[in-house]
Amino acid sequence: MDFHNTNDAVTRRIQAFTDRLAMLRANDLYFYNQPVQEILPGMKVRVNGREMGMYASYSYLGLVGHPRINAAAKAAVDKFGTGTNGVRTLAGTLTIHTELEETIADFKHAETAITYSSGYATNLSVISTLMGRGDYVLSDKLNHASIVDGCLMSGAEFRRFRHKDMKHLETMLQGVPEGTAKLVIADSVFSMDGDIIDLPGMLELTRKYDAWLMIDEAHSVGVLGKTGRGIEEHFDLGDVIDIKMGTLSKTIPSVGGYVAAKKEIISYLRHASRAYIFSAALPPAQAAAANEAFKVILDEPWRIEQLNRNTKQFIGGLKGMGFDTMLTETAIVPVLCGEDEKAFAMTREAQHHDVFVLPVVSPAVPEGTARLRATVTAAHETSEIARAMDVIGEAGKKLGIIK
Ligand SMILES: Cc1ncc(COP(=O)(O)O)c(C=O)c1O
Repeated sequence: MDFHNTNDAVTRRIQAFTDRLAMLRANDLYFYNQPVQEILPGMKVRVNGREMGMYASYSYLGLVGHPRINAAAKAAVDKFGTGTNGVRTLAGTLTIHTELEETIADFKHAETAITYSSGYATNLSVISTLMGRGDYVLSDKLNHASIVDGCLMSGAEFRRFRHKDMKHLETMLQGVPEGTAKLVIADSVFSMDGDIIDLPGMLELTRKYDAWLMIDEAHSVGVLGKTGRGIEEHFDLGDVIDIKMGTLSKTIPSVGGYVAAKKEIISYLRHASRAYIFSAALPPAQAAAANEAFKVILDEPWRIEQLNRNTKQFIGGLKGMGFDTMLTETAIVPVLCGEDEKAFAMTREAQHHDVFVLPVVSPAVPEGTARLRATVTAAHETSEIARAMDVIGEAGKKLGIIK
């Protein structure tokens, strides 16, 4: 490498990574960052000139390109232009921002809401604003990286309880010194495994031990609950989560993140969280698209029913072939491969047969649990899901993952 500092630890780290990528590329095992040329109907995409079934999208309800959402975004551009040129606190707040926050609060049955320019920034900023030195944050071991980073950034005592293990969480809560502020935090649907948090269990413990409860609903909005409102609706609980965090980049076909909560909490975040105060506002088109998308979810409940049917078909079919889909209960469907190289090889087989799916390998998941991380959506056709499963099945047999 042509660096001036040729032999320090940074150079060696970059070199090791460069070598690994070169090896993957040389063996036709690298499929990340491929440009999608066109989004086609029925959850298909054009990549390298080929039409492929898309099994790596978070558009769980198939709302990307929805005419009402596109129209709302275009109208916002006509009205407000393409950016706000500023932070919300100063001149950046537009009526579409406050409208979106009211829509989110209504959708989440919360008093009010605040939005940020990404889900990642939301977790980072919200956790580190609420918690600080001397406080305790107790986090599920499989929580998303943005939660982990927010906890580390907060400076609070950071403890990780075993995945969904309420007994372990209780032991940890008992170990927090009397009178100390504590936050318990988890994904609603785990982003690599697709399983659902035990919200009733967490609620009971956070109430018993007087802890704050924060849940990240990136993968449950539009996915869980009869009307798609998320984890509280799924468990038939009312407005019980103190800090309901979510993203605008998955089921909601936009970009950004939010927190819905009591008005005093939101007011505090609006005046103290650095990603709100020191970073530019959501672009008008994205705010308007998100605002319309929440309304479409409520107006088109058939999408949730179709997603549930497709999820059942996909998980049932893969399990029937002998694949280990781990503990998934949702549209995120891990297909366990084992070693990283096997997951890369499975991806190659699938992509060569026009199934766009990608692997997740260590350190994103524990070593030896590399997997295809497939997703299914309401927009997939039944016959297309069957074809994708055939392709994945053939690949699994060829690589000895199933018999
Ligand atoms: C659970 C979870 N939280 C937060 C995020 C970050 O959201 P965004 O992509 O909108 O920044 C993600 C995205 O992958 C996620 O899966």
